[in-house]
Amino acid sequence: MQAANGVENRPTLLLDGERHAFRDGETIYEVAARAGVTIPSLCYDPRLEAFGGCRLCVVQVEGVRGPVTSCTTAATDGMVVETATPQIEALRRTLLEMVASENRQIDVDPLRGYASQELTTLVDRYGARTGRFVGAHSGQSKTDDANPFILRDYDLCISCYRCVRVCAEQEGDYAISVMNRGFHTQITTEFDNPLKESACTFCGQCVQTCPTGALGDKKAMRFAVE
Ligand code: FES
Repeated sequence: MQAANGVENRPTLLLDGERHAFRDGETIYEVAARAGVTIPSLCYDPRLEAFGGCRLCVVQVEGVRGPVTSCTTAATDGMVVETATPQIEALRRTLLEMVASENRQIDVDPLRGYASQELTTLVDRYGARTGRFVGAHSGQSKTDDANPFILRDYDLCISCYRCVRVCAEQEGDYAISVMNRGFHTQITTEFDNPLKESACTFCGQCVQTCPTGALGDKKAMRFAVE
């Protein structure tokens, strides 16, 4: 089959009406990203194994009954994918309303970290500050952690686990992990110790991947105040 981008003999899929070739093993999300189609996401980081936790990257695949997460679904030859139908967009808005309801603060200082505005941007794009959902909050801040580098404001955590995964998969440190489930989910360290007493090397990767500013760069924030 001749693909739109001129690559022959490769499997292709139809993405929002346009045909794109892909390599075996690629996910729908990766094919879309390469094609310049931005699918909203919160738990995705291209450096990490797909996690499939936030569900924001859902898309509609022809012949499949419900939406599927594009970051964990492999592209297959002949697949027909819609990334932004009215139903999919409505689902994303509801998901974001629920995430926003669980978070003490949506607007954070951009100096907290590189990705710290991701949730804010999506919540605003989808008009998800509705207050429609009210309930329990997960994650307790450890702002008293006496280290000069990393702010641990877990009241803003959305349990995407990007910090945990980057620490393990990119740094190999396994300094941070997850405790409990549901509304009791808490990002923690071994024995719940301060970072200084953990395997943390203060590389800052966790701060830079955090999409809500729950983790913050203390030095950058101090600089802004001075
Ligand atoms: S980005 Fe796919 S589930 Fe979060």
